[in-house]
Amino acid sequence: MSHARKIAVVPGDGIGPEVIREAVKVSAAAARKAGARLEFTEFDWGAEKYLREGVTLPPGAIAMLRENFDAILFGAVGDPRVPENRHAAEILLAMRFQLDLYVNLRPARLLDRRLCPLRDTSESQVNFTVIRENTEGLYAGMGGCFKKDTPDEVATQEDVNTRKGVERVIRYAFEYARQSGAKRVCMADKSNVLKFGHGLWQRVFKLVAAECPDISAQHLFADTLAMEMVLRPADFDVIVTCNMFGDLLTDLAAALEGGLGMVASGNIHPGSIGLFEPVHGSAPPLAGKNVANPVGAVRTSALMLEHIGLTDCARLIDAAVLASVREKQCTSDIGGKLGTKEAGDWIAARI
Ligand SMILES: NC(=O)c1ccc[n+]([C@@H]2O[C@H](COP(=O)([O-])OP(=O)(O)OC[C@H]3O[C@@H](n4cnc5c(N)ncnc54)[C@H](O)[C@@H]3O)[C@@H](O)[C@H]2O)c1
Repeated sequence: MSHARKIAVVPGDGIGPEVIREAVKVSAAAARKAGARLEFTEFDWGAEKYLREGVTLPPGAIAMLRENFDAILFGAVGDPRVPENRHAAEILLAMRFQLDLYVNLRPARLLDRRLCPLRDTSESQVNFTVIRENTEGLYAGMGGCFKKDTPDEVATQEDVNTRKGVERVIRYAFEYARQSGAKRVCMADKSNVLKFGHGLWQRVFKLVAAECPDISAQHLFADTLAMEMVLRPADFDVIVTCNMFGDLLTDLAAALEGGLGMVASGNIHPGSIGLFEPVHGSAPPLAGKNVANPVGAVRTSALMLEHIGLTDCARLIDAAVLASVREKQCTSDIGGKLGTKEAGDWIAARI
């Protein structure tokens, strides 16, 4: 039996605890089957704790996570009772930025053609990965307001692109392509209008591509890519892009594979602890009703286990999820009749 992998579990708000419970159950089943050891430690960071104690992330939490855990499994944060979702930014963005999780990895794999909104699209045609820069761009929080709340107000939001930040995520994309056996990397920007910031993406992409002659490097403007992802999704293996365009394009990718309830993501800093979360939010109207689709969270746990070297566990989970979707042993948003818990039970039992 391999050494124990330590997982910090942060279920969060809304449907987060319901779907993460199933992800933990399924991961534990896969570990038992594969002879791996997983230790889960749960943290109650989220809206309830914030409303009760005024605490978002406790002092020292980031260092504690880095020192004691192999990965973080995260549900979702967001609660209508908290003004501006203050706690959510402090919990999730703090982890992303302070752990320097510069890669947002989002595989898009269609499990069953009936879930794809595109006509005549087979499973093999939607099978690509979007790598979104996760710490810079328009999300760096730089900017300000001048003459606020007057007719002359000026609001600026800076698009921050550093050579280091751009290069490391582009290098990750090529490395990911190589390791996953993919042949193509497509970089998307708007260098035709964002001459400085995205001019940097252009120059760095060409430099890194020249070092990787075994991988075909392609460039598309982000608006063209949005269209091509719908018209010809099979043309893509790995897509790398900035924070803002990645945010938009990955939701488009989620639609191609059956909706937000299906999709997994990883926030990664190679060689260090990563945070893995389903792409969806806390979906407050669904919370506590046992209706949320657990597949996104369960696939997230597979992505996490693969990342920490438990590839056998990940494959077991992927196969069981595929069977649950194909056999309609799933929740109603994807054509089944099961509740959240029952769908998770089915997947675990299949493993
Ligand atoms: N990473 C995160 O923690 C994260 C991400 C997005 C949104 N949020 C927060 O979540 C809250 C709700 O946001 P939203 O409504 O824009 O996004 P959402 O993802 O929670 O919901 C969007 C739509 O998708 C559906 N949906 C989402 N997950 C589903 C699942 N597992 N099964 C079935 N249907 C599912 C919802 O019912 C809703 O119709 C907000 O407070 C928002 O800030 C958090």
